[in-house]
Amino acid sequence: MKWGIMGPGGIVRRVSKSFAVAEGPEMFAIASRSEDRAKAAAEAYNTKRWYGSYEELVKDPDVEVVYVSTPASFHCEHACLALEHGKPVMCEKPFAVTEAEAKRMADCARANGVFLMEAMWTRFIPSILKARQWVEEGRIGKIVMIQADMGFYGSKEPPGAPVLPVASIGGMLDIGVYTTSLAAYMLRKMPLEVKAFGTFNPFGVDSQAAAIMRYDEGELVSMYASGSTESANEAWIYGIDGKIHIPKWFWCAQSAELFPRGGNPEVFEHKTAAEGFEYELLEVERCIREGLKESPTMPLDESIAIIGTINQIRSDWH
Ligand SMILES: NC(=O)c1ccc[n+]([C@@H]2O[C@H](COP(=O)([O-])OP(=O)(O)OC[C@H]3O[C@@H](n4cnc5c(N)ncnc54)[C@H](OP(=O)(O)O)[C@@H]3O)[C@@H](O)[C@H]2O)c1
Repeated sequence: MKWGIMGPGGIVRRVSKSFAVAEGPEMFAIASRSEDRAKAAAEAYNTKRWYGSYEELVKDPDVEVVYVSTPASFHCEHACLALEHGKPVMCEKPFAVTEAEAKRMADCARANGVFLMEAMWTRFIPSILKARQWVEEGRIGKIVMIQADMGFYGSKEPPGAPVLPVASIGGMLDIGVYTTSLAAYMLRKMPLEVKAFGTFNPFGVDSQAAAIMRYDEGELVSMYASGSTESANEAWIYGIDGKIHIPKWFWCAQSAELFPRGGNPEVFEHKTAAEGFEYELLEVERCIREGLKESPTMPLDESIAIIGTINQIRSDWH
């Protein structure tokens, strides 16, 4: 399909490698708020068309799907712009900054009868799908605990400043979305209650977060997000009959390990051809081809609920 890219930033450089290896998705057009940046991006990614405004991109009748790759603070505005022009949208994570924005985006997609999906690429990575399959098959029994962390070294100038997007939204939204979404994916429900602490950098942005979530049947999830230090970056899913380990970097894992209670460990390995964004691109195309308005693997109501949970976590420390 012919994809139109909205906002040629850092993530597009990485996702372009997945466009190159995936069969079907094509970087057809690219748009920037500046003509010069659009032209440079078109040359860098060899797109057939480029536009100096996002409005022109969504008016191109040949663009079949729009990838919103702007900072999260602008997802609502930019996704709705494309949806209102009848374009299906894959929107970068975190889906939005507030639950109200996330709802507005879903309402806009539904009102216009157009496909919309959060680009939560982790859900489509083969090793994560295998872990999910093990859970569904009851290989670890009922899940009782999940532990996941994601952390990167921050810049040292000024001390403790996190590596976050320009329009900074904080560590919990930017990277805590992966641990929150993984828990929702494995448990298939949202927590009843959260308790959380955050550490703030000199700019007032949360550079670290630690949260515990409690679910209706007593399940507990603990997670860390840090923009100050490199953590183990792995996930453990604990059941009453075994456990699953998703090793470093869990959100784009190249393997998963199953440790059944009293049985022999099993290892699943799947090396992704590029970084792993190719699977979400293919899911979007599959859904659109099949006439779906959302992905059953990353449904809109779950994207909304995840943003709601993250904001519950953030409100716990304010
Ligand atoms: N899936 C992943 O692993 C992953 C990794 C990194 C980032 N992300 C997500 O991808 C999104 C973009 O992140 P990024 O690091 O690529 O961001 P970025 O480079 O800072 O910005 C992306 C582009 O957004 C456009 N933009 C539009 N309005 C803007 C505004 N008011 N201020 C700044 N830029 C604006 C800019 O393009 P023009 O001005 O040229 O139009 C810019 O190049 C975020 O939601 C982030 O969380 C995902």
